[in-house]
Amino acid sequence: MNHQLVKTKNVQAFFAGMEVLKKGVKGRMGMMLIFGPPGTGKTFITQKQAMEDDTVYVRCKYIDKPKSLLHSIVAELGEEPRGYTSHLFNQALEQLLMRPRTLILDEADYMVQAGIIEIIRDLNDMANTPIIIYGMGNIDKKIQRFPHLVDRIRAIVQFKLFDITEIKMLGKQVYKAEIDDSGYEYIAKTGQGKFRVTNDLFDLAERLHKRTPNLKAITADHLAPTWAKEKQRERRS
Ligand SMILES: Nc1ncnc2c1ncn2[C@@H]1O[C@H](COP(=O)(O)OP(=O)(O)OP(=O)(O)O)[C@@H](O)[C@H]1O
Ligand SMILES: [Mg+2]
Repeated sequence: MNHQLVKTKNVQAFFAGMEVLKKGVKGRMGMMLIFGPPGTGKTFITQKQAMEDDTVYVRCKYIDKPKSLLHSIVAELGEEPRGYTSHLFNQALEQLLMRPRTLILDEADYMVQAGIIEIIRDLNDMANTPIIIYGMGNIDKKIQRFPHLVDRIRAIVQFKLFDITEIKMLGKQVYKAEIDDSGYEYIAKTGQGKFRVTNDLFDLAERLHKRTPNLKAITADHLAPTWAKEKQRERRS
């Protein structure tokens, strides 16, 4: 397995959203909301983006309060966080005004739950900087109780489970095993487009391929019995 970015539909939708976000409206920079099921690549693409662009990535935490959240933001902006909450807010603001950057907030559900997401609206308004927030499947519904924040969202991108074409793209570009169509169909059906199970299946294909290097390609008939055996063993332990 390597860590190459595959241009899935989710990745394409992300870049389309970025175009809208970066344009702004009448000089005002808005926000982008990303949501979708686990393992669909939300963190993966935004972390890649943060490496390449003038972008700052912050992961929110379950235990976050205004102070700890702002502490993380200031640290990621490259400044040493100091003082109370209001001072930390000013530090973040100063940094963003001095050098505008896109702020990415992963696991934003935690800010919604803690009722502290309005801090992000303040930063968006006062620094006029683009902000990306994202989280679990239903964050789009949960944020409705913050209508002023919702009003600033210019792009909404819904990440979806991988379909068979994307499973094939992932298999060919990210993993080493040679797999035939029946193998891909088995992986897509068993994994149901969810990355973590799909990844385990690709891992199995790689192991089978290593064990029998003369095989031309891994098929569904190779995968199914070993997969069933491994799952049974897991259930017993
Ligand atoms: N476009 C892609 N190209 C290559 N690998 C990908 C891609 N999208 C997802 N992956 C793989 O899927 C893994 C899981 O993705 P990621 O952690 O980004 O999911 P997520 O949507 O953030 O999930 P969660 O909601 O649970 O945080 C990544 O570590 C990566 O290995
Ligand atoms: Mg994630």
